[in-house]
Amino acid sequence: MNWWRGLKVKVKFQEPMKKHTTFRVGGPARYFTQPRDTQDLKLLLKSRERDNIPILILGAGSNILAADKGVDGLVIHLHSPFFKKLSLKKSRIYASCGVSLSKVSSFAKEHGLSGLEFLAGIPGTVGGALAMNAGLPGENIGDLVEMVTVMDYQGRIKTLNKKNIKFAYRQSNLARYIILSAVLKMIKKNKQEIKDSVRRYLKSRHRSQDTCWPSAGCVFKNPARESAGRLIDLCGLKGKKIGDACISKKHANFILNLGSAKAHDVLRLMALVEKKVKNKFNVNLEPEIKIWQ
Ligand code: EPU
Repeated sequence: MNWWRGLKVKVKFQEPMKKHTTFRVGGPARYFTQPRDTQDLKLLLKSRERDNIPILILGAGSNILAADKGVDGLVIHLHSPFFKKLSLKKSRIYASCGVSLSKVSSFAKEHGLSGLEFLAGIPGTVGGALAMNAGLPGENIGDLVEMVTVMDYQGRIKTLNKKNIKFAYRQSNLARYIILSAVLKMIKKNKQEIKDSVRRYLKSRHRSQDTCWPSAGCVFKNPARESAGRLIDLCGLKGKKIGDACISKKHANFILNLGSAKAHDVLRLMALVEKKVKNKFNVNLEPEIKIWQ
């Protein structure tokens, strides 16, 4: 019997990943579903167990490069209203995993709560940002986290407090769970100051980064005390194109999709960058984006 038989939630077949990633690249997911709530999610996890189908959790798809041949697994998109709840208690924000970073950042701004200004303009969801501890040098979402509710791959819900959560540069031990929601501890501040700070972040982002073309943000992690973008730039790679994938002329750690880029083009460009940076600086660049296949 097919593993999805009897489930209330709809399972789609061969759903194009280019529709769900900010890169606008990627072949079809073998299975794709949008559970309505944690009950649906739990049943999905149980049902696919027998056939050992790999699970991939999708938020805003802003850090993913999906292979051209597609993704051989079950992509779970946490996109229903249940996964997009946002509320406030004193100076704490309660955010579900599917809330977009722009939404949580403007919610904080409206309520005179500071701490999340640096997220302005970063495409992504709370769940994705927590899994990879999104941020800028010196400011990461993990710094604000007080508690996170997760589901493990057996469908058990757990609440983790600060002591059980380990955040590091662009990683956390939360990535081994399905993140459901988080409590973020904010600081009360004058609304105008928050607005000004958000404006400064947005301005700096627009000045240094290419937001006109689809991309997945920074492709490589920064090596210790260095900027991957600076090293790639010094290799003279800005503007380098393979197919429709192009290294941004504004920020060398961005690969842009100029129209119909394939994952294969992006991967070839990444390999070229890794080779040039290794040869010139003896530095091994590590991808920040996740490659799904
Ligand atoms: N630089 C260059 N050439 C370039 C890009 C950068 O010389 O093509 C130089 C800049 O002039 C600057 C230094 O490198 O002196 C650092 O550049 P930038 O301030 O742009 O920061 P970054 O280290 O390249 C990091 C994050 C970005 C985040 C910015 C905010 C990583 C991998 N990247 O970039 O995050 O937006 O700081 O300043 O940690 C992302 O994670 O997707 C991302 C874009």
